[in-house]
Amino acid sequence: MEKLTVALLGGGVVGAEVTRTLLARSDALAARVGARLELIGVLVRDASKERDGIPRELLTTDAEAVVAGADIVVELMGGIEPARTHILDALAAGASVVTANKALLAQHFPELITAADDAGVRIEYEAAVAGAIPIVRPLSVSLAGDRIERVMGIVNGTTNYILDQMSREGWDFDAALTTAQELGYAEADPTADVEGLDAAAKAAIIASLAFQVPVAMDDVHVEGISSVSADMIETAAAQGFTIKLLAICERIDNPDGTESVSARVYPALIRDDHPLASVSGAFNAVFVEAENAGSLMFYGQGAGGAPTSSAVMGDLVSVARRRVLGGRGQVAQQVRESGDILPISR
Ligand code: NDP
Ligand code: HSE
Repeated sequence: MEKLTVALLGGGVVGAEVTRTLLARSDALAARVGARLELIGVLVRDASKERDGIPRELLTTDAEAVVAGADIVVELMGGIEPARTHILDALAAGASVVTANKALLAQHFPELITAADDAGVRIEYEAAVAGAIPIVRPLSVSLAGDRIERVMGIVNGTTNYILDQMSREGWDFDAALTTAQELGYAEADPTADVEGLDAAAKAAIIASLAFQVPVAMDDVHVEGISSVSADMIETAAAQGFTIKLLAICERIDNPDGTESVSARVYPALIRDDHPLASVSGAFNAVFVEAENAGSLMFYGQGAGGAPTSSAVMGDLVSVARRRVLGGRGQVAQQVRESGDILPISR
């Protein structure tokens, strides 16, 4: 069977889960892809640190070597540099790329997509928006022939967890943030979560995909939750409202007949009977309104190692399958004539 080499850049919360999955499900993945996925290295800063689920011999600090040897590079290190350079090097060398790095995408989206197109390879990033929830593909593929009017939702698990713990359990802000970090929901610098920057990066990606115009972080109006106090949450609750950090991206019809795109992130009062009010913990929910499809709702775990690894693995299978097929054929075709699991005959 053919073999595809995979380099993982980052062995933290998400990287460790992806490593575990790659090693534990290697036979099933090989059957699905039509090639063995061979993990050749996991890039970290400190290779001497013990990491649950990552064999020590896979750890490396040699970025150039591990990128150069890979057919597929999975970037899970976060931040802008050196992640951007490693991805561009990988694409230029003809490797396919999977990334969960919304901060990078929100700043360098056109550059990365162009680099992939120029090299004739794929870059996939389903995990960059709303963790396990499939939303990138619906916006960019499934709804590509429709006209999306508005996308709205809760797209940051950390802040939703904090607000939820403060309102339901009476926790204070710092205790809730510390627990969110321990559970692997928060960014390396949690200011990005608390100040709304992570949600704004996701809003920029959502708006770019939904409206097919480059929307960058700087185009998004951002307010975080650091100014939301326990008193505000209590006062809102007494009046039948819940405070949620919302991201709203919409098409605006201007009086002169032109169109604009508005993207904003801010803490909003939601009526308790609205579906968004009941989105608890680190869950996310995204509502899409499109001309023909009408209203669609996506809901699921928006942060954490395992949920995020699900989206990363989906992208990994997709780019690997495409390489096996040489860019032709049905990437998602998996209806085989026979398999290990058979339907029960009636
Ligand atoms: P972590 O901070 O847990 O892990 C980052 C990993 O990258 C660490 O292993 C770190 O090495 C390594 N790393 C970082 N910088 C360098 C560098 N310059 N050179 C070599 N190695 C480096 O992050 P997460 O796993 O939580 O997140 C990874 C990415 O996934 C980020 O882009 C994040 O935004 C995104 N994401 C995260 C989600 C989550 O719920 N956690 C959900 C969706 C997306 P070392 O361990 O030695 O420091
Ligand atoms: N820090 C992010 C969050 C991770 O809390 O939503 C998922 O993108």
